[in-house]
Order: sequence, then C-alpha cells, then structure tokens
Amino acid sequence: VSTETGRPADTGVRGPGRAAIPQRQLRTDRWWLPQLATAVGLLAFIGYSTWRAFDGVYYYAAPYVSPFYSPCLAANCVPVRGGADWALFGDWWRLSPALLVLIFPLGFRLTCYYYRKAYYRAFWSAPPACAVAEPHARYTGESRFPLILQNLHRYFFYVAIPFATILTYDVALGFRNARGEWGHAGLGSFVLLGNVALIWAYTLSCHSCRHIVGGRLKHFSRHPVRHRLWQFVGRLNVHHMLLAWLSLASVGLTDLYVYLVASGAFADPKLF
Ligand code: FES
Repeated sequence: VSTETGRPADTGVRGPGRAAIPQRQLRTDRWWLPQLATAVGLLAFIGYSTWRAFDGVYYYAAPYVSPFYSPCLAANCVPVRGGADWALFGDWWRLSPALLVLIFPLGFRLTCYYYRKAYYRAFWSAPPACAVAEPHARYTGESRFPLILQNLHRYFFYVAIPFATILTYDVALGFRNARGEWGHAGLGSFVLLGNVALIWAYTLSCHSCRHIVGGRLKHFSRHPVRHRLWQFVGRLNVHHMLLAWLSLASVGLTDLYVYLVASGAFADPKLF
C-alpha cells in the first residue's frame, strides 16, 4: 500500500500513530526560501574554496598569508613568515599545501550543529523545514555510520583553537612591513584582523564550547569563573548562525584579497 506521495503507507509521517493529514504540509509561507539561500551560499563557498585549495599559488603576499594556507606545512610552501613556517611534510608532498590543513576547519564546520541543520535541510530535505514532512521513509537520525561521526564535533573544536591561534599570529605578522619592521599596516592588515575576529567569535560561540566551559556543574555559585565564561559564550552562542555565515564569508574574502594582491591584480594600500 502506498500513499499519493509514493511512500509506503506505514512508514515515516504516514506511519501508525501519526496524525492522518492528507496534505503534504500545511505551511503557506515560502518555507523553501531559506533552504534555497543556504544551498546557494554553501555551494558558492564550496566551489570557490575547492578551486583555491587545489590552486596552490598566490596565497602569500608579504606580509599576508591566506587563511586557507595557514599553517603551511609542506616543503613546497612559499617561504611565508620569512621562511619560518613548519615544513612537516617533505619534498614528496607535491599537491597544494592547503590540502594538508583544510581538513580540520572543514571538519569543524561540517560537524557544527548549525551547519548540520543547514545542509540537512538544504541538500537532503531531512527535514525540508519545520512542520514540513520529509520525503524519506526511514529516519535513523545520527545514530548510525556515517552520521554518528558528527559526534566528533567536540574534538574538532579542540583542534579549531590552535588554528585560530595561528591565524591570530598571522594577523600580528601582518602589521610588519616588507623589511620585517613592526608598526606598519596596509588594508590587508585589517582584512586579516577582521577575519580572525570573526573566526574567534564563531569558534567561541560553538555549542560544544558552551558545554565545555559551563557543563557538568551542579553549582555555578562554586565556579564563578566558569559561570562568567559560560555567560560570555552564551551571549555569542545566540548569534552562532550569523557568526557561521559571517566567518565563512570573511575567510573566503580574506583569501580572495591575498590572491588579488599576490597575483598583482592590485597593490595593497599602505595605511601607516
Ligand atoms: Fe557550530 Fe560548534 S556548534 S561550531
């Protein structure tokens, strides 16, 4: 027996014990619009970042290094940071050095609670939206492989902290001139600064971070420091979705800025 939607009659929202609603859904607003915008935004970033990750060139315009290529861990890196980078991978690594490091921020974002909601809805219709029945007959949530790996998010958060720290170090180096003297800045210095501020805001607004600083406590009154931290993270956490998008856009735009300067499309304006 099947319904007019083509699903078996005894599964999913058509299963026994579920309200017998003949319509596919009852919403009258344009519930699909956020999902469409999400899909367009994520596909645009995936397309751009894939091109740049495999590009392997124009990621360093002294003193700016693209966030896609930091830290640069291969021997085939251009000598970023005056040649003081960490070449953990020797001459045998011939691919773009970005491929060695992007897996970590990618894993952090892929397993993020917000992005999970976003791409489950936008790409898998699971569910398409609140109060819109999903087309899938079976629902196993995140209890089986591969989605059970989403539980690794907390560990990706731990890895995200050193990455954000390295990007902060890159910002500091962006306030030197070509001779390595401090106290100079170009427009790129502030592009990197704005990007790292958004990266930190997104990272610290993480739901796992909120649990790490404030979870498993019975009495906040006995842990005033953690209580303060939890309140701080909670204020950021309210804006996690916004910060997810802003930081995603900023990391792409920062890479684009470095690419344009490094490729000679325009010169970085010196500010002081
Ligand atoms: Fe989004 Fe952790 S929940 S980064």
